Amino acid sequence: MANVVVVGSQWGDEGKGKIVDWLSERADVVARFQGGHNAGHTLVIDGVSYKLSLLPSGVVREGKLSVIGNGVVFDPHAFVAEIARLGAQGVTISPANLKIAENTSLILSLHRELDGFREDAASNSDTKIGTTRRGIGPAYEDKVGRRSIRALDLANMESLPAKVDRLLTHHNALRRGLGHPEVSHEAIMEELSSVADKVLPYVDRVWKILDDARRAGQRILFEGAQGTLLDIDHGTYPFVTSSNTVAGQAATGTGLGPAAVGYVLGITKAYTTRVGEGPFPTEQDNEIGEFLGTKGHEFGTVTGRKRRCGWFDAVLVRQAVVTNGMNGIALTKLDVLDGLDEIKVCTGYRLDGKVIDYLPASQGAQTRIEPIYETLEGWKETTRGARRWNDLPAQAVKYVRHIEELIGAPVAILSTSPEREDAILVTDPFQD
Ligand code: GDP
Ligand code: IMO
Ligand code: MG
Repeated sequence: MANVVVVGSQWGDEGKGKIVDWLSERADVVARFQGGHNAGHTLVIDGVSYKLSLLPSGVVREGKLSVIGNGVVFDPHAFVAEIARLGAQGVTISPANLKIAENTSLILSLHRELDGFREDAASNSDTKIGTTRRGIGPAYEDKVGRRSIRALDLANMESLPAKVDRLLTHHNALRRGLGHPEVSHEAIMEELSSVADKVLPYVDRVWKILDDARRAGQRILFEGAQGTLLDIDHGTYPFVTSSNTVAGQAATGTGLGPAAVGYVLGITKAYTTRVGEGPFPTEQDNEIGEFLGTKGHEFGTVTGRKRRCGWFDAVLVRQAVVTNGMNGIALTKLDVLDGLDEIKVCTGYRLDGKVIDYLPASQGAQTRIEPIYETLEGWKETTRGARRWNDLPAQAVKYVRHIEELIGAPVAILSTSPEREDAILVTDPFQD
């Protein structure tokens, strides 16, 4: 298959950035298709860390075209700041190597504020989502509500005032209702005109650029953000993000047809983590969770929040294999399990006295399910940095094989440390 889409199989932070960086050597174009700067993708190259939020992970490699698709919600201030931050690390980003879709919806200060107002007003864990407070949800609401300011609108200062008025009619009603001061038309116009010159040089017809690339035989790598259980339809609703994170969105979020997507690679952590509120059946709020969190450095890239940690949940990943149509997975952070006496894997749930093999869709049932575990023997040797299958201890191989069986998908790539080159390639997704 010519193209590859990378998606998260769990609640995000599976190591998508590392795998996208690694695979991008074989790609010509790297395209983001949903989410925004709520994402935090860390790459480590020769000991140096690069943290990407809004920009595709392909920007760190010279000679690759990076694309921000129409499915992304785009914060122009975050964009300018991220380019400056990466510039200080020696990464050059210009309109020659980065394109932003003209029909991408913008995140403005009023979206960020509304996200914060709502989170602050939510009094308990039933109503608080634990968002990244980046304005992602409010920006997607405005997109679907047909009142977004989009990237191409920055080029047309005459028609902008009417669009801003329509947006403010909605937002100021909400702000009054939440007990916050209104925003003025002038403030938003000023905000937009202050970023227009910085953004417009990058704005282009992305669907056409990608189609031309495809026709010229170039390879496209679609980079997902978040993970399947944060998907607005397939995740643990309402404790989700506001976009479709599954592979089907790669087509819609860039302007290509579904056949262009190609191989679907699910990035899958060898255990489970989650940031923010919401159900987490295999969570280990104990010394096991502490072990995984400390050894795996499980702190959010974007907000610095401590990630909740638990055992691998094969039920959730098996379901993600289906909802994404995964051809294979990249299993990451196996090295974090080194040294454990035994390792548990969730293979089913008990719900109201019955055994089930899927994640129930209702919020109530999701909080009542109890995991059913299998216990596997651990290994004492290190897997960290392994680059050949034969270097893995027998018990680690057994764990990987067992996961493949439980989830119904093969391991195409095994990652054994944060470093770019520390991975074992089993199947090349671009060749499969
Ligand atoms: P993403 O959001 O899916 O891109 O993942 P993050 O970058 O937020 O979190 C994954 C973290 O794990 C990052 O700090 C990576 O450097 C690190 N990482 C990725 N793969 C591995 C691995 O195989 N082993 C270890 N120990 N760390 C890894
Ligand atoms: P990457 O791409 C992990 C979570 C937030 C919150 C919920 C909604 O690094 O894997 P939002 O700000 O999107 O409205 O928050 O989604 N969340 C993530 N968790 N990794 C991410 O991205 C996330 N992006 C959003 O913590 O629970
Ligand atoms: Mg992350």
